[in-house]
Amino acid sequence: MEPTTTSDPAPAHAGDQSREQWSSKIGFVLAAAGSAIGLGNIWRFPYVTGENGGAAFVIVYLACIAFICLPYLLAELALGRRSQKNPVGAIKAVTGRTPWMLVGGLGILTGLFILSYYGVIAGWTFGYIFKNVVSPDTAFADFIATPGLVLPLFALFLGSTAAIVQGGVEDGIERAAKVLMPILLVLMLLVIVRGVTLEGASAGLSFYLNPDFSKIGSGAIVAALGQAFFSLSLGMGAMVTYGSYLPEKENLLSAGGYVALFDTGIALLAGLMIFPAVFALDGNPQAGPTLVFDVLPGLFQQMPLGTSVGMLFFLLLSVAALTSTVSLMEVVVSYCMDERHWSRSKSVAVVTGGAFAFGFPAALSQGISPTLTDMTWLVGESGVLGATDFLGIMDTIWGNISLALGALLLCVFAGWVWGVADAAAEIRSGAGAFAPGAAQVWGMFIKYVCPLVILVVLLDAFQVI
Ligand code: PFF
Repeated sequence: MEPTTTSDPAPAHAGDQSREQWSSKIGFVLAAAGSAIGLGNIWRFPYVTGENGGAAFVIVYLACIAFICLPYLLAELALGRRSQKNPVGAIKAVTGRTPWMLVGGLGILTGLFILSYYGVIAGWTFGYIFKNVVSPDTAFADFIATPGLVLPLFALFLGSTAAIVQGGVEDGIERAAKVLMPILLVLMLLVIVRGVTLEGASAGLSFYLNPDFSKIGSGAIVAALGQAFFSLSLGMGAMVTYGSYLPEKENLLSAGGYVALFDTGIALLAGLMIFPAVFALDGNPQAGPTLVFDVLPGLFQQMPLGTSVGMLFFLLLSVAALTSTVSLMEVVVSYCMDERHWSRSKSVAVVTGGAFAFGFPAALSQGISPTLTDMTWLVGESGVLGATDFLGIMDTIWGNISLALGALLLCVFAGWVWGVADAAAEIRSGAGAFAPGAAQVWGMFIKYVCPLVILVVLLDAFQVI
């Protein structure tokens, strides 16, 4: 998935050979799937599903992916490939210097903030590779409240991300991902088999697979849409940036389709891995962000070679998280390089410093600092859409609302300012199957359906309607 690095300024259109490009379609699909598949699938999807009632939530989630995210993903890819730029540069390239560039700017900021707290959680997964060997009896709540553990782990993870991005991106990661992602899948299947055969697992299966729509309130729909954007790395221009390395001959429809398919498949499997085990092991499906870290180690204990399986699992989860943090950092770095004309080293250093500065309070907010752990003094008893700790608040603001807002604005931009005709023409290049009729339907989604749905969901989240 290595776009070979060149220091030339990017050209205005994909036809120019000087722009760095993916070596192959599979390279792009792996890079984009590597960005999409991460903690969002295995850590966030199960706990958000648990908090929002299970199976009915999953159905709403799937509808969000199919009807909102997939059309929108194509728009991000088309904008990236057309302009061959980072999100700010992309908007400038197709319409000139207009306030719309601020939408790209929001994406860059969102990338930086998500990177900051995501790196903290990724640090936990890294620590969990060894935790069950070194100190199996330490509870998760104690683990994340130990500054001597979480801060170095966070720094280590951010440092690893920086090293990869500094390398001019990731031949290594591509090769590693090609081997490790399939192993993650096999391991997940193994853990699923063990989980569903535990006594008492069927209650979990029914929670996950039998929908009860009375559990779906507007909060669940906000969460489903936010989760869908987060999981597919949408709404902040990551796919604009990755799409900018795609050559004109590639088929955006099938490439985007594969990414969505892989990402959704892994999320669904993660639910199957967690919920039967939660019920069998008497856990609480509504435990929130601690769910995966509490439940899985209990499950591993019930497996032959459980300690090794556990180590391998958290190692692979760390790799999945790393391919996501690389993409988060790459978006901000590509902006600094293209628009600020900084060197790659300077960009990586500044972005890493910024992410550490904002991640630091997030790392302290899980029990180390009472002020950051319970921020009701600032956000009131109901918190920010329920979140009252610094990390949770960051996740809600940047990982949920800002992605939805960014997607809303980018949809309006693509549909009304850039124009669906141009965007569709870009998609058609390399995708003959995108017939005029299909393009028209897609245009309706981008102009009307997607923005309206996202707007309603956002207004509802803020209780405006
Ligand atoms: N999609 C990643 C995950 O599911 O873990 C998180 C993410 C990466 C979000 C990159 C946004 C992004 F630009």
